[in-house]
Amino acid sequence: MLPLSFQRRIQSLLETTGDKPSLVAAREQLTERYRSKQGTERGGFISSSEIIAYVAARLPATFASIEAILPHIPLKNISSVLDLGAGPGTAALASALYWPECQKIHLIEGDAFMSEISQSLLKGLPELQHRQVSFQKANLLSVTIEASYDLVLLSYVLNELAAHDQKVILQKAWDSAEKGVIIVVPGTPIGYQHLMVLRDLLIEAGAFIAAPCPHHEECPLKEGDWCHFSTRLLRPSFHRKIKDVSLPYEDEKYSYLVALREPVPRPSARIIRKPLQRSGHVTLDFCTPGGIKRQTISRRDKERYRLATKAVWGDGWDDNFTNEKE
Ligand SMILES: C[S@@+](CC[C@H](N)C(=O)[O-])C[C@H]1O[C@@H](n2cnc3c(N)ncnc32)[C@H](O)[C@@H]1O
Repeated sequence: MLPLSFQRRIQSLLETTGDKPSLVAAREQLTERYRSKQGTERGGFISSSEIIAYVAARLPATFASIEAILPHIPLKNISSVLDLGAGPGTAALASALYWPECQKIHLIEGDAFMSEISQSLLKGLPELQHRQVSFQKANLLSVTIEASYDLVLLSYVLNELAAHDQKVILQKAWDSAEKGVIIVVPGTPIGYQHLMVLRDLLIEAGAFIAAPCPHHEECPLKEGDWCHFSTRLLRPSFHRKIKDVSLPYEDEKYSYLVALREPVPRPSARIIRKPLQRSGHVTLDFCTPGGIKRQTISRRDKERYRLATKAVWGDGWDDNFTNEKE
């Protein structure tokens, strides 16, 4: 969950900048542009109101998806992260909270106002006390990344860039990553298509895909289907206000890739759809090295049924799947 100290900072940012109607209008304009361009080559923010609207309307959801992804990364002792296209610092904050041992956090952001906002939100935050947090305003396409970092984060940024630019930035990210790269994009068909191209490049570069794929084979999903996951977030009141909604929660759909330099243990399968719980059985859809497989696990199969009733969409699953395609 977003730390309350951070929520309060967003709240005061909203109170001190812009009036509510103009922020709601900026949020609507931003949403409309995302829809019309399907989120690709959106061309950045066009006003400071849009940036503040982004922080209030999108940050809680992008934070929730990163929070859901991090437990699938079996790495400890992360000492440094680099957040590229950091925006308000969403992924940097989520990672710092997940790895309290992480001492060095560097954010690179291309928009000057957004970079200022990230500084006002993160600097002196109690949760980041005793960490070295630094901010750089630079274009990812031209910047030379001087240092290397354990993990490099690309959260909701590559999907907004042209295919060629995505590759250039991914290469820089990979070159500056000691342990690996995490990519998050919206859980849409187009987001997934971009991710599949980037996955091929990473595998070619020698990466080990630690999640969500439990293998390095070609993605077995049929045309028209796309690998994505969903997380439910409780909406802070500023989030409900800017979206003009009363429902206390929303579901954020996301797709992601965790590409590491060294192999790590990974589950033999991943649950790729919401489990179907019925009386006396649970049906699970898995991605496995042998393709997509469906299993119905009956209450009679005591231990597996117990695990299946607890399992959620996106969890890893260990079982003896054959590599035979169905
Ligand atoms: C959708 S926001 C995502 C922000 C944040 N990473 C998150 O997960 O909430 C994309 C961010 O990437 C930045 N960005 C896009 N292209 C960039 C580039 N070429 N160089 C630097 N920053 C860029 C934008 O200014 C924006 O702040």
